[in-house]
Amino acid sequence: GHRVLAAENGIKAWELFQQNDIEMVITDWIMPGMDGLALCKKIRSLANESYTYVIILTAKDQKEDLVEVFNAGADDYIAKPFDPHELNARVKTGARIVELEIQHKDIANILIESRNKLKIVFDSLEEEIVAIDDKFRIVSANNAFLRNTGATFQEIIGKPCFQDENGSSTGFCDKKVNFLAKRVIESGTPQHSLDTYSDKHGEKRYKRMNCLPVKDEAGKIFQLVIVLKDITDDKIREEKIKALNKRMQETSDEIKVKNEKLEYTLKQLKNTQAQIVQAEKMASVGQLAAGVAHEINNPTGFVSSNLKTLADYLNDINRLIKQYRMLITELKDNNAEDKITSSIEKLLDQISGIEKEIDLDFIMDDVMDLINDCREGTKRIKKIVLDLKDFAHPGEDKLQATDINKGIESTLNVVWNELKYKATVTKDYGKLPIVKCYPQQLNQVFMNIFVNAVQAIEKRGEIRISTRADNGSVEVRISDTGVGIPKENISKIFDPFFTTKEVGKGTGLGMNIAHNIIKKHNGTINVESEVGKGTTFRIRIPVN
Ligand SMILES: Nc1ncnc2c1ncn2[C@@H]1O[C@H](COP(=O)(O)OP(=O)(O)OP(=O)(O)O)[C@@H](O)[C@H]1O
Ligand SMILES: [Mg+2]
Repeated sequence: GHRVLAAENGIKAWELFQQNDIEMVITDWIMPGMDGLALCKKIRSLANESYTYVIILTAKDQKEDLVEVFNAGADDYIAKPFDPHELNARVKTGARIVELEIQHKDIANILIESRNKLKIVFDSLEEEIVAIDDKFRIVSANNAFLRNTGATFQEIIGKPCFQDENGSSTGFCDKKVNFLAKRVIESGTPQHSLDTYSDKHGEKRYKRMNCLPVKDEAGKIFQLVIVLKDITDDKIREEKIKALNKRMQETSDEIKVKNEKLEYTLKQLKNTQAQIVQAEKMASVGQLAAGVAHEINNPTGFVSSNLKTLADYLNDINRLIKQYRMLITELKDNNAEDKITSSIEKLLDQISGIEKEIDLDFIMDDVMDLINDCREGTKRIKKIVLDLKDFAHPGEDKLQATDINKGIESTLNVVWNELKYKATVTKDYGKLPIVKCYPQQLNQVFMNIFVNAVQAIEKRGEIRISTRADNGSVEVRISDTGVGIPKENISKIFDPFFTTKEVGKGTGLGMNIAHNIIKKHNGTINVESEVGKGTTFRIRIPVN
């Protein structure tokens, strides 16, 4: 599969060669004009893309002749006269070599191409890169390095990279890098460090220095690669970020402190607000109660005294009626009818008629009962009024020697109307020492607990009250059989404004106030509760 072009002499052959793509040239040595060796030299002088295989045909077969053939750039020779078989074999060999040569060229091209690409990358890097041999002479350097040293490639290649100890030669790299390079040689491992220095404007700068060993197959270091990078900007950025972070941390700490303060203040505020609301409520309830008590007191007073007079009158009237009846009986039984005038008889009949009609006997019995009931009623009114007065003394808030059982009792009377339809109240009062306390405030605690208890009872239930003296304290327990308090709410019920009741029904202040009042008495208030079973409040107040 070859195309063969023939030429009669060297000059013709050269022309043909230039016009065509020739892979192989077989030429006589001796030719007129241009001989075979001159042709071969001409071919070799061309920087051709592809290789041309040259075979010289010659009758000269001395050793010197052959040297001349190969010196001219020929690849092979064939002695004349030649054997066609031999020619064929030599051509085949030549073709194989051309083929190999082409492959070789391709690979070389690929290598060159990737080397060029690499060089572009190498030169575009910001990092200064310089390679040195084991004698620390510069082998290669990238643009960044050249830029920084101000030298050209030709000026530095083969030159010592560092200034030598006696200072006779100049170096292209700082002695800190020299030191690093020595360490790489000693350790056989990459080394790096950070160089800080002041530039010519006195500005602090940072340079990162890396030095890597390049080893041969036996593991011997034959080159070092030095990579230098100015990281001043990075450092500045890093420091800025650090400063910002610090500032942020400080700010967030400040915010935390402020938040805590705010939370504390809010709590205080809520407590104060709760106290004010409750104090106002109590003051107005107290005033109202005292006013009502006073107003009720007067009419009750005269109703009660009038009832007594009425009872006295009734006794007198009773006595008189008895006399009248005796007279009537006498008139009817003992005297002859004729002695009585008909008009008197008529009157007597009328009297008996009326007596029967109004059932006088019953009236005489019942009137007294009614009056007694009324007097019982006024007695109760008086007691309630006293309790009311006891319960809330407006403006009176001082330590008093108090019987806590009595306080509970009067509070119970005040809320009785609320309790009676829903709860059976069981009382178990122990004998208590007199306690110095603010009685109306304690009453308020009991009232808040009673009201909660009733509100917790859905249909009907029980409220148990028990008191006892215990180890220098008075203990009061109030239990109910209401709905109970879920675990997650237990810790919240003493918080101001915590309520589970609908709007308008609860403000969430009752237990907070109770807690504050008990605290004021150096006492404790605890709660135990089970959902569906009920709740118990336990209050302890020290006697002194
Ligand atoms: N005996 C109880 N049984 C069940 N839950 C109770 C009882 N006592 C208190 N609680 C719960 O605690 C919450 C807080 O009670 P607190 O007395 O402080 O407020 P309130 O009753 O909701 O409103 P206020 O008493 O101000 O009218 C109630 O809403 C309720 O959920
Ligand atoms: Mg309440």
